[in-house]
Amino acid sequence: MKNFTQRFFSSQKKLCVLTLFHFTFLYSITIAFAGGLPKPYTPHDNIALDCGSTNNKIDLAGRSWFADSTIFLDQSNKVSVILSSVTKGNSIPYKTARLSRSQFTYSFTVTPGPKFIRLHFYPSSYQEFNRSNAFFDVHIGGYTLLRSFSPALTADYLKSEVFAKEFCINIDDQKLNILFSPDPSMPDSYAFINGIEIVSMPNNLYYSADDDTGFNFVNQVNPYRILEKQALETVYRVNVGGSSISPAQDTGMYRNWSEDDEYLTNGKPSVLPVNLSINPSFSVIPNYSAPIPVYKTARTMGTNKTVNENYRLTWEFRVDSGFTYYVRLHFCEFQKEITEPGDRVFQIYIDNIVAEHQADVISWAGAKGVPVYRDYAVMIGRAGTEKKRNLSIALHPAPAWRTKYSDAILNGVEIFKLSNEGNLAGANPDRIPTIPHQNSLPPPIRPKYNSRAIFLIVIGVASGFVALSAICFLIFRPKSRVEVSSSWYQLSCKDYSSMDGSGEEHSGVGKHSKNTCSPENKKWDLL
Ligand SMILES: *[C@@H]1O[C@H](CO)[C@@H](O)[C@H](O)[C@H]1NC(C)=O
Ligand SMILES: *[C@@H]1O[C@H](CO)[C@@H](O)[C@H](O)[C@H]1NC(C)=O
Ligand SMILES: *[C@@H]1O[C@H](CO)[C@@H](O)[C@H](O)[C@H]1NC(C)=O
Ligand SMILES: *[C@@H]1O[C@H](CO)[C@@H](O)[C@H](O)[C@H]1NC(C)=O
Repeated sequence: MKNFTQRFFSSQKKLCVLTLFHFTFLYSITIAFAGGLPKPYTPHDNIALDCGSTNNKIDLAGRSWFADSTIFLDQSNKVSVILSSVTKGNSIPYKTARLSRSQFTYSFTVTPGPKFIRLHFYPSSYQEFNRSNAFFDVHIGGYTLLRSFSPALTADYLKSEVFAKEFCINIDDQKLNILFSPDPSMPDSYAFINGIEIVSMPNNLYYSADDDTGFNFVNQVNPYRILEKQALETVYRVNVGGSSISPAQDTGMYRNWSEDDEYLTNGKPSVLPVNLSINPSFSVIPNYSAPIPVYKTARTMGTNKTVNENYRLTWEFRVDSGFTYYVRLHFCEFQKEITEPGDRVFQIYIDNIVAEHQADVISWAGAKGVPVYRDYAVMIGRAGTEKKRNLSIALHPAPAWRTKYSDAILNGVEIFKLSNEGNLAGANPDRIPTIPHQNSLPPPIRPKYNSRAIFLIVIGVASGFVALSAICFLIFRPKSRVEVSSSWYQLSCKDYSSMDGSGEEHSGVGKHSKNTCSPENKKWDLL
């Protein structure tokens, strides 16, 4: 152990086995932090591993990250692995990494069942390991999660210094081996990893139950089912119309939910209704499906029937082509005016194909204030040599005779890539041409998946425990989004301008208020 911080590696490509036994006991010592509120779900396996670290750490959300070196058992092969302390990485688990020019395996003992597996990367030049040279495969059992994967190209593409990849795999054994192997066809290639999470999920959260007949496979005749043998990669998880939700604020599975603004196609009106006073009643879907804030915020089209009938409220998600995607749309009606089936009926288009002719959330849920989700599968084919394509989700009001209000609503979106004969790996993004502004300061660490929490972490590290208390307050304070207190159909431009000046969370509303208050759209009246 004592020599781990020394830089050892050999040019020989030999198998290095990092065996990490019996991680299952760890979940019991994870510190409950979320204001003492019980989470709807408690994962049986809950492992957070801080790779390359020599001591256990607790992140600011109260989660324990375990040093992989303290349980690194195989002494004989350690020569090909180094640990690295990174000074630029501020947050756990990005402060340290484990790197190797030969392949290595992490081996976990888990309970059988579906798991989230999250791999955290901070592509940086670690000592003599050039950031640009990391190209490696990651395999779990028969699944290829990543192939000749370049974290550097991925981070550049995401415009984020750090990022995490989330996979769902059904483990039928008690052994879970994660194999990292450098791509031998790339010069000086090596593999690295900063953090690994393994978290159990409810059996039928995403995987279809045995008696489940399946869901709409867009543009196909037969329904689709998510089989246990399929591996999934989460590509987007979005709280539509609301703010991002950090892993600690999830329902117990440490999922991250981001904002939807950057996926919305530009120039079209939309409004962000919110109802903080509803207490969603989980009578249709389990209460761990998504955190409550997802169901308290939404995006709708607005109240001008003429305008709404002439556009589709559209989000576009860039995905690897040549895969089938699993799309889950979350809904909850909470606006005063929408009380009965038929009040707000709309069409849903996925990849420009009608997936739902008459989406009626109240009739799906049985009542207002009841969250529901609908699942869809869609094949995103490969057109020529294009590596990526947009997967679009679009909403449009149903014909006027079918719906009281010509509008549409969406509260949340999850999109997963489905394994194709065990493979989930897509091509690396193209190299981003270097921008000729060399003098500018490097951007601060901003992980793609959790910018707000990391920002808080940075502050917290600097100012210690006093700040920590403040941060708890910040994280768990109620959302400061302004609640629309006036009637939905009486919203006026004046209401919007008063929301503009109302505080930090106005940005979503403010951004779209220009559209909603454009001259031709100035009056809000009953439809
Ligand atoms: C979630 O639902 C389960 C089963 O209905 C219930 O036992 C549990 O108390 C609920 N948890 C929360 C936090 O609402
Ligand atoms: C890392 O590799 C890139 C591309 O091969 C090269 O341009 C750069 O100079 C290298 N950096 C260092 C520090 O060697
Ligand atoms: C919020 O939901 C509650 C309960 O359904 C309802 O009484 C109230 O009118 C809603 N508020 C708004 C602003 O829609
Ligand atoms: C809706 O928008 C149209 C076209 O922009 C406009 O002519 C009309 O007056 C608006 N209707 C209402 C009720 O505001």
